[in-house]
Amino acid sequence: MKIVAIANQKGGVGKTTTAVNLSAALAATCRRVLLIDLDAQGNATSCLTIKHQFSANSYTLLMQQNTLSQVIIPTRIPDLFLVPAVPDLAALDIELATQMEKEKRLHYVLKGEERPKIQEGEKQTYDYVFLDCPPGLGLTVLNALVAADAVIVPMQCDFFSLQGLVQLFSTVQRVKKNFNSHLCFCGIVFTMFEPRNNLNLQIAQDVESHFHDLVFKTKIPRNVRVREAPSYGKPVLLYDLQCSSSLAYIDLAKEFLRREKES
Ligand SMILES: Nc1ncnc2c1ncn2[C@@H]1O[C@H](COP(=O)(O)OP(=O)(O)O)[C@@H](O)[C@H]1O
Ligand SMILES: [Mg+2]
Repeated sequence: MKIVAIANQKGGVGKTTTAVNLSAALAATCRRVLLIDLDAQGNATSCLTIKHQFSANSYTLLMQQNTLSQVIIPTRIPDLFLVPAVPDLAALDIELATQMEKEKRLHYVLKGEERPKIQEGEKQTYDYVFLDCPPGLGLTVLNALVAADAVIVPMQCDFFSLQGLVQLFSTVQRVKKNFNSHLCFCGIVFTMFEPRNNLNLQIAQDVESHFHDLVFKTKIPRNVRVREAPSYGKPVLLYDLQCSSSLAYIDLAKEFLRREKES
């Protein structure tokens, strides 16, 4: 079971879209995938379900009110399972502030004795667990980085994102040093890419020349279908399989699996 955090402290860079569609594309290749929505805004949750009330969710999981098997729900994609998020999650930093090992809650849930169970008596694990992180670098993101084996960083090709990338790298180095020595970078993926935009091209080139193979070759193009999909409670892969972004997410999943094989 490989745990991958989808993180970038900047908001609106395509973390959730990448988490949802990469998970969906991998589930379509018969990998068992669990997506844990760690953002109080619950955007990944609304991309995968039309339900809104979840008494068992990622907040109750991190507060140890529920076990992992109690908070997992199926999605309309076979092999893709979800731990939904609710707005309560926004209070997690405050509620855990005085707790011991507050940064290891998710780690213990995922690596601990308790394994996800689909049916009583039947122990099932997942090939991949994706963690859709909120923006910022708060306690929830720290929990994700402590629990994860690898980080995928979605980024838009603009100047502020470039600055954010440097900050995220130093955060990951600090987490590696202090909490999770085997955390590694899986890759940077360019989202909302516009190949005809010179600034996009320039920044992509700069990042590639600095980070080389850490950058996924697959770039996700900007496409209005991606924005439309969540209002139907669907990942864009289900909403319009043939649009440029869906095809790119399928390519990204293939590239991800290729890298997994090589590593
Ligand atoms: N490839 C894309 N083309 C067009 N819009 C996109 C694309 N990727 C993401 N978006 C839109 O950009 C906004 C932010 O994306 P989101 O995945 O929610 O970012 P984050 O999780 O980092 O905040 C959303 O409205 C989403 O639909
Ligand atoms: Mg998000």
